[in-house]
Amino acid sequence: MSSYLILTLTALVIFLGTFSVYRLYLHPNSKFPGPKLWAISRVPMAYNLARGRLPYRIAELHDKYGPVVRVAPNDLSFITAEAWNDIYGKPVGRPQLAKDPVAFLRNPNDYADLLFEPDPTEHGRMRRNFSHAFSEKSLRDQEPIIGSNIEKMVTRIREVCKDPIDITAWLNYVTFDIIGDLTFGDNFQCLDSGNLHPWVSNLFTWVATIGVLGMFQSVLPVAHLLLRMAPKSMRDSEKYHRAMTKERLDKRLANPNPRPDFMSAVQRFVDRPYGLTYMEVFQTCSIFMVGGSETTATTLTGMVYYILRTPRVYNLLVEELRSTFKDSSEINMANSGKLNYTIAVVNEGMRILHPLPGNLRRVTPPEGWVVAGWKVPGNTLVAVDSYAAYHSRSNFHNPKEFVPERWMSDPPAPYKNDKLKVLQPFSVGPRNCIGKNLALMEMRLILAKIFFNFDVEIMPESVGYVEGLKVYTFIKRPPFMIKMTPVAV
Ligand code: HEM
Repeated sequence: MSSYLILTLTALVIFLGTFSVYRLYLHPNSKFPGPKLWAISRVPMAYNLARGRLPYRIAELHDKYGPVVRVAPNDLSFITAEAWNDIYGKPVGRPQLAKDPVAFLRNPNDYADLLFEPDPTEHGRMRRNFSHAFSEKSLRDQEPIIGSNIEKMVTRIREVCKDPIDITAWLNYVTFDIIGDLTFGDNFQCLDSGNLHPWVSNLFTWVATIGVLGMFQSVLPVAHLLLRMAPKSMRDSEKYHRAMTKERLDKRLANPNPRPDFMSAVQRFVDRPYGLTYMEVFQTCSIFMVGGSETTATTLTGMVYYILRTPRVYNLLVEELRSTFKDSSEINMANSGKLNYTIAVVNEGMRILHPLPGNLRRVTPPEGWVVAGWKVPGNTLVAVDSYAAYHSRSNFHNPKEFVPERWMSDPPAPYKNDKLKVLQPFSVGPRNCIGKNLALMEMRLILAKIFFNFDVEIMPESVGYVEGLKVYTFIKRPPFMIKMTPVAV
């Protein structure tokens, strides 16, 4: 018995040894720098992802190994500006790199949506149809819905701000109410109730779960079994989610007199040739709800934090807003787009705390691909890891400091060589963020309204809030306590 055991163990050691030598020295990706353990196995990556620490670890690896790092046997991370176009752009006459098919564990019975549709032609068709909902004109038409929700946020905060408030929760309420109104013509009344609707709080858990299971699926291909064995509560919550989405979407599509929203722009294409199927619209509604709210709420949370921790920025921002406007009602989409300092604060906010710090991996075609001058073998995962790119000293001077001035037309001397093109918070190419203009407008307006209407201080327990926030595709945000005092009018 014991000799069988010794034989088996010896065979295992020989196999693992040969396998490791192959991955370290003979594998097509072995020329790329990186830690040995990560080059041998995907386990270190999966482990860090499960701990919510992956983007931070990848940033440390770039500090040590340079602009390209092998973060798993078949997986390369880049942090240079050129890598964006090479990975996510679509050079004329060449294919578009496919998304990593296993990055997220999807239910095989799910219909495709705009974000996950793997086929570029099908994605292009969907994108053309949905793009009407995000045009300049649609955005102008949607402004009253967006503006009224932001005004409601100000009013509600005035009502409750005698005590310190959890601003990250209020930012979620306003962004969810806006996106609910735009998607379903009916909001979730998070601002009214001062609570997240359970439908909405489920969404974060859903994204986090499919992200972590996706990574495990690439280590051990049994994650689908886990999905099948998911606890009843999780399966029930998925059912609830679908039923709620259907109920809201059907109610909205049946409304004969809707306000201008996403559906008023796409409804006429449903079930038309080259248009959208009902199921594509249904599936994409969930993407709008999550993609259009968590992202903006997280970025705004980061901005508020760094503004409060940088008195110079706080004073300059408040000065710009309160010298430009006499009344909160004057602040709108058009004039907030001319606030130079506010815009610089938004750019710097997206750099320092980007809401999607990683996990946008693409696959190179079998014949290989060139990324930022590097010849990458076929079937390799490649990505720009945004946290690492935005926090690297090779791209930004003092990357840990919140310096909106680096985005101004004449930045202070030490910041003149910052590689501003590295910042692509909405990605680039045919699968970039369709909601970019909406997000920018929303963030400018919310920020302007907060700092025009309130004097704001951070509570001592929230100093250091941003350190070690956990990342599960999105950033998990605990309460962020601040004191808001209405400015006398
Ligand atoms: C600060 C806010 C936001 C950031 C940083 C952001 C970032 C991104 C990024 C990086 C992608 C590409 C994802 C990928 O390659 O897999 C993306 C896609 C997408 N975003 Fe956003 N986003 C934001 C706000 C919004 C908003 C307000 C909406 C509105 C509904 C939205 C809807 C979408 C959709 C539908 C896609 C998929 C587009 C496609 O595949 O054609 N996002 N976003």
